[in-house]
Amino acid sequence: MKKILIVHGPNLGLLGEREPKVYGKTTLAQLNALLEKEARRLKVELKIFQSNWEGAIIDFLTAERKWADAVIINPGALTHYSLALRDCLSAIGLPAIEVHLSNIAAREEFRRTSVTAAACRGQISGFGVRSYLLALQMLADMKK
Ligand code: DQA
Repeated sequence: MKKILIVHGPNLGLLGEREPKVYGKTTLAQLNALLEKEARRLKVELKIFQSNWEGAIIDFLTAERKWADAVIINPGALTHYSLALRDCLSAIGLPAIEVHLSNIAAREEFRRTSVTAAACRGQISGFGVRSYLLALQMLADMKK
């Protein structure tokens, strides 16, 4: 069974109450339940992690790199500046998809740059919780 890490970065623990016009009304617990349901349908196994700390995310990815076949990551604001996270994604060498709930290309100037996307296979941005579900379907389809 394919094993996939799902990482939610800073402030995504507040989903549902955080700027719902931008990020939607689905809470993180509800999003994770949707992901687990889709994972059962696709017959893939998930480990889900959220942290507001860059180093904790890097520690998680490093610790789980041998368990996992692929990564889905919403780095939150780390997207726009974390070279340490980008290096980690390159270092672990797993196929990764960067996801965003909002369309970062259509927002403030500082959000238009992703330093982490270059270490990923691709990016899915702007489809709310479906960005994650699309990434999961994509990775479930990919050859090991
Ligand atoms: C986000 C977009 C980022 O710019 C922002 O800092 C977030 C959420 C998104 O999912 O749309 O925290 O990654």
